[in-house]
Amino acid sequence: MATEFIGQAETAVSAPITPREFPERLAIRADSPIEQDQLDDQKIPVEQEKPVEQEKFVEQVKSVEPEKSVEEVRSVEQDKPKIRRVIDEEGGSTTATYPHYLPVWDHGEKYPPWERFTHTEHGKDADPSFKDLLVVGSKLQHLTPSTGSEVTGVQLSKLSHAGKDQLALLVAQRKVVVFRDQDLAGLPIQEALEFGAYFGRHHIHPTSGAPEGYPEIHLVYRNGGNGEFDSFLANRNSGVAWHSDVTYEEQPPGTTFLIILDTPEVGGDTAFVNHVEAYNRLSPAIKERLHGLTAVHSGFEQAEFSRSHGGVVRREPVKHSHPLVRTHPATGEKALFVNGGFTRSIDGLKKEESEYLLKFLLDHIGRGIDYQARVRWAPKTVVVWDNRLTSHSAIVDWVTGERRHLARITPQAERPYETPYAAEAK
Ligand SMILES: [Fe+2]
Repeated sequence: MATEFIGQAETAVSAPITPREFPERLAIRADSPIEQDQLDDQKIPVEQEKPVEQEKFVEQVKSVEPEKSVEEVRSVEQDKPKIRRVIDEEGGSTTATYPHYLPVWDHGEKYPPWERFTHTEHGKDADPSFKDLLVVGSKLQHLTPSTGSEVTGVQLSKLSHAGKDQLALLVAQRKVVVFRDQDLAGLPIQEALEFGAYFGRHHIHPTSGAPEGYPEIHLVYRNGGNGEFDSFLANRNSGVAWHSDVTYEEQPPGTTFLIILDTPEVGGDTAFVNHVEAYNRLSPAIKERLHGLTAVHSGFEQAEFSRSHGGVVRREPVKHSHPLVRTHPATGEKALFVNGGFTRSIDGLKKEESEYLLKFLLDHIGRGIDYQARVRWAPKTVVVWDNRLTSHSAIVDWVTGERRHLARITPQAERPYETPYAAEAK
């Protein structure tokens, strides 16, 4: 799969963790595989260069727990969680521009279910003049009339709180905004996360790779050097896979960031579609009928895909029903909230009815090139989109074997809600 929503695997936890910064990461520590490893290391010496100590230790184990054989003790060692690192698969060295961002999957990493949190929508009270965001010397150009803008002359990492508020509002208005010449990729990962945390609680992806010690970073990684491009299109006509990210969560992401690390010189663009405009194009009769309906968004298939491909599942999958039409808390705009990645059925409808209506809505969204925008990546680009109002697809079209490597910062937002249908003025 070329999609960004089906991750290839998982992570490790080794970075310093403070309760102030990431309470979620403390939860990891409580049953951390690393702590388990440390216990195992104390009980089961495995270093071959210390045979005498090993023998002594085995004797100690025998004396304390005489019912365990040496083989049984060693089998515990072999059962330690597997950790997969791309850097190892690349032979211990890499040409990646940001090697510390290469994916790691730790099969021992497990998280409890998410708990609800109160989201603060920073775009809601932002100054619509954007004076703290679009500072003197900056330039904003629209990619299309309705959807997408590109900004130069702004450094996201240096924004004040007011500037960040205005960023959230601008992204809600334009749906996706491309920022060039950014320094986020070059900052310590912790600093990039602290920047993103302003916009909401960091999501931790259940199946994707992450930089070692930073599970809050979702990595999109494709190294074309291993033949995967040949097999990619073997069973499909196109790699286009419209989706919004992790909408199966009770509180799906809002203002979302994607940082380019390595990109093909040509190809590997990302396309975005504007779900507000998709809603606005519908007839009043259809709009009115959609209000009040909810649809099931499921993470079970993603988890099963990962499990069946030897990947990790950090958190047991969930499904949630969300309104088919949601309202944005900052702009009040209504958006179709369905996507091809995770929306499975419409509540209360019979199977055929649900499938037909869902297919119509997804076809409508997917073919709306007159309310879509296509982003071309370049080094130091950061793309910010509102995941509540868009879906997107990677464009897997390059055959050069070049690496495509991106880091996503994914702040969660409010539980989707809807406001009543409002008839339009004649
Ligand atoms: Fe995605």
